[in-house]
Amino acid sequence: MPLVTTTEMFKKAYDGGYAIGAFNVNNMEIVQGITEAAAELRAPLILQVSKGARKYANHTYLMKLVEAAVIETGLPIALHLDHGDSFELCKSCIDGGFTSVMIDASSKPFEENIALTRQVVDYAHDHGVVVEAELGTLAGIEDEVNVSAEDSSYTRPEDVQEFVERTGCDSLAIAIGTSHGAYKFKPGTDPKLRLDILEDVEKRLPGFPIVLHGSSSVPQEFVKLINENGGNMPGAIGIPEEQLRLAAKKAVCKINIDSDLRLAMTACIRQYFNAHPEHFDPRQYLGPARDAIREMVKHKIVDVLGCDGKA
Ligand code: G3H
Ligand code: 13P
Ligand code: ZN
Repeated sequence: MPLVTTTEMFKKAYDGGYAIGAFNVNNMEIVQGITEAAAELRAPLILQVSKGARKYANHTYLMKLVEAAVIETGLPIALHLDHGDSFELCKSCIDGGFTSVMIDASSKPFEENIALTRQVVDYAHDHGVVVEAELGTLAGIEDEVNVSAEDSSYTRPEDVQEFVERTGCDSLAIAIGTSHGAYKFKPGTDPKLRLDILEDVEKRLPGFPIVLHGSSSVPQEFVKLINENGGNMPGAIGIPEEQLRLAAKKAVCKINIDSDLRLAMTACIRQYFNAHPEHFDPRQYLGPARDAIREMVKHKIVDVLGCDGKA
């Protein structure tokens, strides 16, 4: 099976009350860890590449790694550009074989967001590629952009219908209280997703797939392991997984997770070096790191997304 778009996956996810995991990839071990988990649990999968990841690893290397994952697993896998910030970047990924792109013009005024999204949609649809757009602004760090909590803003449900109609986008990322990165909320706070906004959006766009970014839960045991093994991460908490599970049962069809994989990988490598200071063969620590990613993704598929057995 070749790479697929998200159209079919989202339709089934919407009707089935579950979500597809969109996991960020940067290198071979990350691709392998994620796809081993999905293959074991027969879960459909979105592998996504940020602008920074594409710069780090090179388009062709990432493309070929993801193609290898398709061959090895036989799973429906979509390859998606995460947070595309220009028409040119989206075009380059479409021309280069991605099956889905995000144009993130959410920081621009409404009319500019619509115009840029429409431009990408026209090109993408002519090439059989689907487009995710965004309305509302998440807090946190993505690529070089750092949005403070004060500058973040929830999606206004009254805007979504006009936005989707005028842009022709295939899915919509909304801001309902998630946030990018590992430092989302101060310890002691009680993060709550605005599921009421999600429900309002769902009423206005029945059957339309919604996306949540910034959905890592920042498991405290991994932060602790990092700090016990020479790291120095200040305390932070993430999005409670039970709230994401509720969102996945509603109109949310795609949930983005990156930071939790980074935490799992880093905790494992730090622990490994502490236990084996004499080792220097990268396979010795990248192998267990790949396993740690696999276990994290299995947990997300079963306990958060509910997409196991849906491939
Ligand atoms: O939301 C952003 C993703 O976590 C990708 O992060 O730009 O550091 O690759 P990155
Ligand atoms: P996290 O930083 O919460 O993992 O979010 C990742 C993301 O939204 C990628 O687009
Ligand atoms: Zn994101």
